Amino acid sequence: MILITGAKGQLGYDFQRLFDKLKEEYIATDRNDLDITDIEKVREFVKDKNITLIINCAAYNNVDKAEDEVEFCKKLNTYAPRDLAIVAKEIGADYITYSTDFVFDGEKKAPYTEEDISNPLSIYGKSKYEGEKEVFKVKPDSFVVRTSWVFGIANNNFNKQVINWSKNKDELSIVDDQISSPTYSKDLAYYSWELIKTKKYGLYHLSNTGEASKYDQGKYVLDKIGWQGKLNRAKTKDFNLKAQRAEYTKLDSSKLEKAIGKKIPSWENGIDRFLEEME
Ligand SMILES: NC(=O)c1ccc[n+]([C@@H]2O[C@H](COP(=O)([O-])OP(=O)(O)OC[C@H]3O[C@@H](n4cnc5c(N)ncnc54)[C@H](OP(=O)(O)O)[C@@H]3O)[C@@H](O)[C@H]2O)c1
Repeated sequence: MILITGAKGQLGYDFQRLFDKLKEEYIATDRNDLDITDIEKVREFVKDKNITLIINCAAYNNVDKAEDEVEFCKKLNTYAPRDLAIVAKEIGADYITYSTDFVFDGEKKAPYTEEDISNPLSIYGKSKYEGEKEVFKVKPDSFVVRTSWVFGIANNNFNKQVINWSKNKDELSIVDDQISSPTYSKDLAYYSWELIKTKKYGLYHLSNTGEASKYDQGKYVLDKIGWQGKLNRAKTKDFNLKAQRAEYTKLDSSKLEKAIGKKIPSWENGIDRFLEEME
């Protein structure tokens, strides 16, 4: 039996759809059913359920708010992933949890591999990086998957925001000095599952291939939906954001591609399928 935490989020939702299709048995939980910050509740929950795999899709993802909610963010992104790893170890289950491209400072200016040194610039990035280390400390045979700029049908994301803005604005400004790769949560779920099945535990990068700035991503979506307005290039500093962002955090997913023997589709292809799904 597979346990999914944070199941109402983007990735959690797509894991459920994948497992429905594959006829894999799972228990989907969100904050109300299973609060991952309470290890005793988690221990109690998994009892007698024959859980063989825990997929942690729950997280604190508000990058700017995290600068003020440091402890709350750490609770969800550092200690809870570690506690789930502890429970997975206790019951002999496999375990996968997720991290972010925000563990990097952007100085490299070329796609980041798993070997590259992390240097997070924000509280959110630090909380995720500390979480990775804690997980491997307690359960070295875990999967930790870093991803970037996730978008999907469930919950909110940048693509949905752009579509909403386009409905009542004829001029938009989007930053072109943050570069990474948008990642379709459906692909994130599918390629994670392919990885889990290999049992080749470790740290992996998993993003749709190719790179884009936020401007490129927004423009791609707006062109596809036939928006007729004016799109301007902007800079991150124009927006007075609380958390610092790196300019370049594109993840190199080739280690994962090699492990599963499959190529990950491009971000444009991911957005095309996302827009079809949204119709
Ligand atoms: N979204 C991105 O752009 C992005 C980028 C890089 C990495 N990631 C990582 O990828 C993974 C999946 O992200 P996602 O975009 O699918 O996340 P998401 O849509 O924000 O979903 C996270 C889910 O976790 C739930 N949650 C929050 N606190 C919880 C708690 N204490 N116990 C149980 N559930 C709780 C949330 O519920 P509520 O809605 O009730 O809070 C939400 O349903 C996460 O680890 C995330 O950090 C995401």
